[in-house]
Amino acid sequence: MNYKSVKGMEDMLPQDAHNWQELERLARIMLGENGYKEIRTPILEETDIFVRSIGGETDIVKKEMFTFNDRKERSLTLRPEGTAPIVRAYIEHSMDKISKIAQLYYIGPMFRSERPQKGRSRQFHQIGVEIIGSSSPQIDGEAIFRLDGLLKLFGLKDFTIKLNSLGCKDDKAKFELQLKDYLRAEKSRLCDDCKVRMEKNVLRVLDCKNENCKDVIRNAPDISLCDPCRDHFATVRACLKGENINFQLTKNLVRGLDYYTGTVFEVTHPNLGGQDALAAGGRYNNLVKGMGGPDVGACGFAIGMERVLIALGCDLPNKPIVLYVATLGKEGRLEGFKQAEKIKKELNKDRLKIVTFMDFVESPLKSQMGTADKMGAKFVLIIGDDEISKGEAPLRDMATKEQVMVKFSDIINTLKGKLC
Ligand code: HAM
Repeated sequence: MNYKSVKGMEDMLPQDAHNWQELERLARIMLGENGYKEIRTPILEETDIFVRSIGGETDIVKKEMFTFNDRKERSLTLRPEGTAPIVRAYIEHSMDKISKIAQLYYIGPMFRSERPQKGRSRQFHQIGVEIIGSSSPQIDGEAIFRLDGLLKLFGLKDFTIKLNSLGCKDDKAKFELQLKDYLRAEKSRLCDDCKVRMEKNVLRVLDCKNENCKDVIRNAPDISLCDPCRDHFATVRACLKGENINFQLTKNLVRGLDYYTGTVFEVTHPNLGGQDALAAGGRYNNLVKGMGGPDVGACGFAIGMERVLIALGCDLPNKPIVLYVATLGKEGRLEGFKQAEKIKKELNKDRLKIVTFMDFVESPLKSQMGTADKMGAKFVLIIGDDEISKGEAPLRDMATKEQVMVKFSDIINTLKGKLC
């Protein structure tokens, strides 16, 4: 038997726990401080929720959903994204009656059956925000400002916010007709998928990664916005400029989900290669009403947690420092335990976040050193009978391999000196 995790779905291992926990902790603090409340919806939803909202002709719905029938032949789907389930919950729990604007956030796994590669998995994790209840352009500004703030809080630099507006339903419909006309004349140069997309959901042609299609798209007509949509978009841009948020206007940015209207945005990062979107979002003014709720505007975004960690390329700050206490003999273990507890009690007062590990199963020193290494220990303190009788023990720095003898009474100060 050689069981493995399901293809494209990875274990989150203890050595990486700090990074996941930090992303979540920072997001909860920053969003909580700004009036957002957490919502947790189930991982399974009725399939129709996604078909209706994301759109039957999108890649997500056509090719990427994990959909199955339950024992009563009801079609269920592992959520590929968070917006549609949250709109479902907003309507189901009449959140419009609780406050005019619902400011919600969520953290959790999403599922899409895409071909796995670096930065693209079948189970991935998002930190998402949805602001439901207003069509004001300031809400778009707030969403993008908050997204920018979160990414900076995670330690990211050099990301680009790409921005566009799809206009209202009418603007979008007019643009779709214009685009169709243009593409029909170029049909022979399009890939087979785009020949179909062109007729069924023409905006999706603009997302195509095929080089010939990209070439055709380069000269495609631009969307022209009606006066209210142009004003709305100008105010969004003014809000962002007022807050010194850099963005890049990107005319072909249409997003791969059908529910968007008006402002759309995507954040890219050079460290991500092919899968370069770190986060994305936009306005979806017709979705709440379309799913049976009140006629209210909404806007949101989601950040891909795996991609944030790839783009960062290093651990998040405040990673606990691991001290491994290697012990020899019964007396050594007792003294080691005593020293480990003393070190944590004294040093963690100074917010140094030391965690200690010990071996309680009498392994040889070599094997304990191997374990310390695998655990990512920064220091190893070695205590046996000899050390107890001399009242001092070797403290090894695992990175530099430097080892110094330290009196038991000096351990705290020595560690403090090495860490501050
Ligand atoms: P999305 O662009 O489909 O938007 O996904 C948002 C982010 O999730 C992407 O930018 C990326 O970082 C991450 N992501 C997506 N697919 C994968 C994958 N297969 N593997 C790893 N990471 C992935 C949405 O999901 C919308 N619900 C965002 C939104 C919220 N719009 C309004 N509100």
